[in-house]
Amino acid sequence: MNNIGTQTAQQRAQRDATGPDLTACVRAATAAPSLHNSQPWRFRIGPREVDVYADPRRRLDVLDPAGRELLISVGAALFTLRLAIRGAGYLSHTTLLPDAADPDLVARVSVRRPLAPTPAAEALVAAIPHRHTNRWPFARSVVPADAVERLVDAARREGASLTVANAVSRNAILSLSQEADRALRAKGRYRAELARWTSPHRGRRDGVPSTAIGPWDAMEILPIRDFGLLQPHRERATAQFEPYPTIMVLSTAGDTRAHWVNAGQALQRVLLTATWLNLATTPISQPVEIPAVRRLLTDSRTGSWAQIILRVGYGRPAAATPRRPLTEVLVAEEGETP
Ligand SMILES: Cc1cc2nc3c(=O)[nH]c(=O)nc-3n(C[C@H](O)[C@H](O)[C@H](O)COP(=O)(O)O)c2cc1C
Repeated sequence: MNNIGTQTAQQRAQRDATGPDLTACVRAATAAPSLHNSQPWRFRIGPREVDVYADPRRRLDVLDPAGRELLISVGAALFTLRLAIRGAGYLSHTTLLPDAADPDLVARVSVRRPLAPTPAAEALVAAIPHRHTNRWPFARSVVPADAVERLVDAARREGASLTVANAVSRNAILSLSQEADRALRAKGRYRAELARWTSPHRGRRDGVPSTAIGPWDAMEILPIRDFGLLQPHRERATAQFEPYPTIMVLSTAGDTRAHWVNAGQALQRVLLTATWLNLATTPISQPVEIPAVRRLLTDSRTGSWAQIILRVGYGRPAAATPRRPLTEVLVAEEGETP
């Protein structure tokens, strides 16, 4: 009996010393969503921790001058990394923005003691490779209240709030989004930036490929990002989208860099929870890219800063988009500047 007890303790100690496969966890993290699939992240893997960096060279100058959406994207990767470590059977501890002298160091995730993953963590880990942005029409069916409640809870667990728009606010949000989309499309610099992130060339491992673009909303109700803007309009397929989409607003209690990272963590927990529930999702960010429109969606007095809009529903499967290889996102040497 004693022997068995000792062996188990030894095995535990050995497992604790080995730790999770952090390279595999970082690979999982790179499946996270990012603005225009810019993948603006880098990682340094240590013996028992991973440093998560923002890659400012991948910030979109026109859409994201402050780097807010860049940090939301990095936050989504950070959540996925934490989840992958949990799925591998370990607890972790995250310190956000640990070094004031190094603003690109977004988080340090340290591995702690082993603990078997919960069924909920396992379900979210299983959803990681199946979560894709879906820009196709969704079914006209209603998203059940208990599914909506799970999404709201997912955001809350990461310190953000998710509000489901009622009929009146949905119409207001959609018309603000259309207005924002029109304002953006009128800018030559916006179109040029879009072209840089959609131009197909063989072997490209970032940006939005044509297989992920989807049709144009024939009724022009849903402002699905027009990644096909540069294709001649007549060649773009149109389709009937759902007339009453389920629209949600993800907000945080403030608007600092830490809030942006947390918005990204909450976004990814919501998206993975939706995937687990067989729900399709489309992030919609044009309204939060025009400051005047974003202000209308924000109530800073009550501490509710709109960070991103989500469309949720039941849709046909969407295709995966490419990711850069690990060699491009890993900081190799101890002294190397990310
Ligand atoms: C901060 C942020 C903003 C985004 N905004 C939009 C958007 O306005 N429209 C859209 O279609 N997709 C948007 N996306 C989704 C990205 O385009 C998508 O994550 C990326 O192309 C990778 O594809 P995947 O999500 O299928 O893995 C956004 C994603 C993030 C993280």
